[in-house]
Amino acid sequence: MTKTVPAPKAGILDIAPYVGGKSKIEGVAEPIKLSSNENALGCSALAIEAYEKAREKLFRYPDGHAAPLRAAVAEYHGLEPERLVFGNGSDEVFALLNQVYLEAGDNIVTGEHGFLAYRISALACQAEVKLAEEPDQRISIDKLLELVDDRTKIVYISNPANPTGTWNTPEEIADLRARLDPSILLCIDEAYAEFVDEPTWETAFPMARGLNNMVVTRTFSKIHGLAGLRIGFGYCPVEVIAAIDRIRLPFNANLPAQYAAVAALQDKVHIEASRQQVLNWQPRMRQAIAGLGFDIRKGTGNFVLVYFRDAEEAARANEFLMTQGLIVRHVANYGLPQCLRITIGKDEENQAVIEALGKFAAQRQ
Ligand SMILES: Cc1ncc(COP(=O)(O)O)c(C=O)c1O
Repeated sequence: MTKTVPAPKAGILDIAPYVGGKSKIEGVAEPIKLSSNENALGCSALAIEAYEKAREKLFRYPDGHAAPLRAAVAEYHGLEPERLVFGNGSDEVFALLNQVYLEAGDNIVTGEHGFLAYRISALACQAEVKLAEEPDQRISIDKLLELVDDRTKIVYISNPANPTGTWNTPEEIADLRARLDPSILLCIDEAYAEFVDEPTWETAFPMARGLNNMVVTRTFSKIHGLAGLRIGFGYCPVEVIAAIDRIRLPFNANLPAQYAAVAALQDKVHIEASRQQVLNWQPRMRQAIAGLGFDIRKGTGNFVLVYFRDAEEAARANEFLMTQGLIVRHVANYGLPQCLRITIGKDEENQAVIEALGKFAAQRQ
């Protein structure tokens, strides 16, 4: 009898596994980790307190409807509670959308430098991922539309985008929605919304309210510093919720995450401090790094994207920063091999980045 092993379905082994930001440097006890766009200030003390309280409830299943969190998010953002779906991070919301809408041979369209999570779960549905050119590293509505065809089911945009930090205006989003067939879902990922201070950026919540084909996602991983707990949500048309709720695992948003997220929303002081840390440091970092002779382009978010001369120099800079105890993200897998993405950290961490890049600049030919 021939011996064989169970074979994953076609395409699974062709998917490049997601590689998260590094967290260790050999021989360095406490490296400065600025590789995953986490919150420099950590999470709220109220969230930790709520998490501690959850200890007593760990033997219970979580609330499958996330009722207290649903009410808290609805109130905080002024959204209809019945239009919210929670996920194990917003990553899970993308995976659920893909699972609901994509059949083998369908496709999603997103930007060439777009977030990888949309793509992985689409490929798992045996769908195609179409990557639109991003002139000037910014989503172009025309380029996206050029790729849309009769097998397109979802168009994904992060606004603002990671890792480029660029954003689209509400007029552009409205234009895209108007020119897309109504049967195609438009998902706007606003993971970095709270860090934007640009007059030409707006949340898409109000636009989505009146539509039955637009989803807006948010996460507790960034402004609320709860990346380790995995909790995010989508603001969806009720028809989308009705479909997702048929396949969503019944207890997908875990109990400590629900507790901590409710508390995080109450801590306005921590939210504002987290926002200010980024709004103060992002322009300072950009200016300081540009002043060292590096190419810095227009961008927002809790990170700075540094453009080097080429991929080889970016790789060298990455290695050099590690020798200085700094872990940043080389974003070659986002189609930007010449770039390093550096998360805004604590004051002294940001200063360490500037100092280390200064040393690297000094040895640059
Ligand atoms: C653009 C974008 N969307 C979503 C996320 C993921 O959020 P979550 O932690 O909620 O899965 C990230 C995290 O880095 C991101 O950069």
